[in-house]
Amino acid sequence: MADNLISKRRIMLVGTGFVGMSFAYSMLHEKGIDEMVLVDVNADKAKGEAMDLTDGLVYADTKMKVYSGSYADAEYCNVVVLTAGAAQRPGQSRLELVKINAQITKGVCEELKKNKFNGILLVANNPVDIMTYVAWKASGLPKEHVIGSGTVLDTARLRVELGDELGFAPSNIHAYILGEHGDSSFISWTNSYIGCKSLLEYLDEKNISLARLQTIYEDVRDKAYKIIDLKKQRITESAWLCAESLRRSSTTSAAFSPFLPIRTANTASPATSSVRQPSLDPTERRRF
Ligand SMILES: NC(=O)c1ccc[n+]([C@@H]2O[C@H](COP(=O)([O-])OP(=O)(O)OC[C@H]3O[C@@H](n4cnc5c(N)ncnc54)[C@H](O)[C@@H]3O)[C@@H](O)[C@H]2O)c1
Repeated sequence: MADNLISKRRIMLVGTGFVGMSFAYSMLHEKGIDEMVLVDVNADKAKGEAMDLTDGLVYADTKMKVYSGSYADAEYCNVVVLTAGAAQRPGQSRLELVKINAQITKGVCEELKKNKFNGILLVANNPVDIMTYVAWKASGLPKEHVIGSGTVLDTARLRVELGDELGFAPSNIHAYILGEHGDSSFISWTNSYIGCKSLLEYLDEKNISLARLQTIYEDVRDKAYKIIDLKKQRITESAWLCAESLRRSSTTSAAFSPFLPIRTANTASPATSSVRQPSLDPTERRRF
C-alpha cells in the first residue's frame, strides 16, 4: 500500500479560499499530477470544492483524482501549497496580517510535521516573506524545501508594465522586483534586459530617461491595493504563479539568508536546488 502511495505524484492544498481555488483550478490543466488533496479548517468547503473540481476534470487533459482529505495524507504528498490565511482587506497592508497569519501558518506546519511531510512546501500566505520563515521553523523541513511566492507576482506585473511602456512582449522583458513582497520592494535596473540587451543601454540608445520608468515601479507596488479595491475581493493569481515559478528562474522567497531571514534572497530557481543572489550595485544592495 505504502509503495503504491509513494509512487503517485500528489499535491496537497491547504486553504480552499480565493487563492487556493485559483491554484487548484490551474492544476486541472497540468499534466503529471496523479492526486490533489484539499484541506481546509472548514472541512465542508474542502469537500464541496473537491466535488466541484472533479466535475471539471471531465474536460481537462489529465486523469488527476481530486478529493478532500486531512493532514494524515501529508506523508505521501510531494508538494503542499499553503494558502490558508486571512486576506488583505481594502486599505490594509500585508504586514497587518502578520499576527493572525503567523498563528495559522505555524498551526498548519506543525500538523504537517506531525504527519511526517517531507516534500516541498509552497507558501502564499501574507506577509509572505515572514510566513515563509515561520513555515520553515514550524515545519522542521530542510531550508531548501520551503519556498514562498515572494515577489513573483510583482515581477509579473513589472514585466507587463514595462512591455506596455516600451512596446515589447512581456515574455521578452527580463526584469525583477527584489526584496520584500511589500512596500519596500525595488526594481534592480542593473539586472534588467530586453531579450539579451541591457535595459539601461537600450534606454540610453533611445534617449529614454530612467525617471520615466520609475513611475512604473509605483504602479506595480500599488497595483495590489488597486485590484483589491476594485474587486472588493482578494488577489488570486499568486499561488499559481508560485507553482509556475518552480519551473523558471524567479523571485521566490527562500526561508533563509546569509543576511536576514525575512528579507531573503528572492531569486531561486528552482529554489529547491539552487538559490542565487543577484549581483547588485551598492544602492540596490542597501535596499536588498
Ligand atoms: N503571496 C501573494 O502574492 C498573495 C496574493 C494574494 C493573497 N495572498 C494570501 O493568501 C492567503 C489566502 O488568501 P485568500 O484570498 O484565498 O483568503 P480566503 O479567505 O479566501 O481563503 C482562506 C482559506 O483558508 C482557510 N483557513 C483559514 N484558517 C485555516 C486553518 N487554520 N487551516 C486550514 N484552513 C484555514 C479558510 O477557511 C479559507 O477557506 C492570505 O494570507 C492572503 O494574504 C498572497
